[in-house]
Amino acid sequence: MAGALRGVVALDGPSGTGKTTVARTLAATLGAEYLDTGAMYRVLTLAVLRAGIDPEDAEAVASLARRTEVGVGTSPHTPTASLDGADVGERIRTEEVNGAVSAVSAVPEVRGLLVAHQRRIIAEAVATTGGIVVDGRDIGTVVAPEAPLKVFLTASADVRARRRSAQDSAAGRASTPSDAKASVERRDQLDSTRATSPLRPAEDAVSLDTSELTVEQVIEALRALADRHGILTHASGGIAETRR
Ligand code: DC
Repeated sequence: MAGALRGVVALDGPSGTGKTTVARTLAATLGAEYLDTGAMYRVLTLAVLRAGIDPEDAEAVASLARRTEVGVGTSPHTPTASLDGADVGERIRTEEVNGAVSAVSAVPEVRGLLVAHQRRIIAEAVATTGGIVVDGRDIGTVVAPEAPLKVFLTASADVRARRRSAQDSAAGRASTPSDAKASVERRDQLDSTRATSPLRPAEDAVSLDTSELTVEQVIEALRALADRHGILTHASGGIAETRR
């Protein structure tokens, strides 16, 4: 049997590595909660765009962040995102949001507010459900450096662009692999060179290249890693035991 997750799995990496799909499925398989931290930066970016604020205007963005309520659900089965209490679901996945989210997420005050929020959500999930899979860019380095398992997913830029384009097309958004590649590379560059918590693996993160792997193979690799790190409980004869 799959086992149940106890503790935090930090899953970082650039966009298009399959992180979100893998994180959600892993959480569902292991009876854990799931936190999509990218969705939180996207909700705030939507608020910035709706308010007509320039995403590069760090002061105006920070001021809006202080009075905006960013909500995300932690069920891996039905992820939800809300802005000031109103559902924004798919509206946070548009090309406009993709184009502005790196600037918004580079603002230190935005990161301070959202990281504090993410830590509260993680603490609550560990206290109630016992386990949570957290997907982002700085989870292993900043948000949850004490997480017992940190994984950094990678994949070649071509593979990531193809995946992003297929996802967009499936959701009814116009996209070609070459547009997606330009967008993915632009965001990688901005996310990994920003001054505050840039995208990079934690020193003790396990790197996993997903270029040649199916989603199922990645999930199996992560499940095996969680087991090896002693954070899966297995029911044996009705008594839960933790394998080490
Ligand atoms: O995972 P995603 O593509 O939905 O993330 C959207 C953007 O949010 C991404 O370009 C960088 C930013 N982000 C971040 O800076 N830190 C995180 N923990 C998660 C996302």
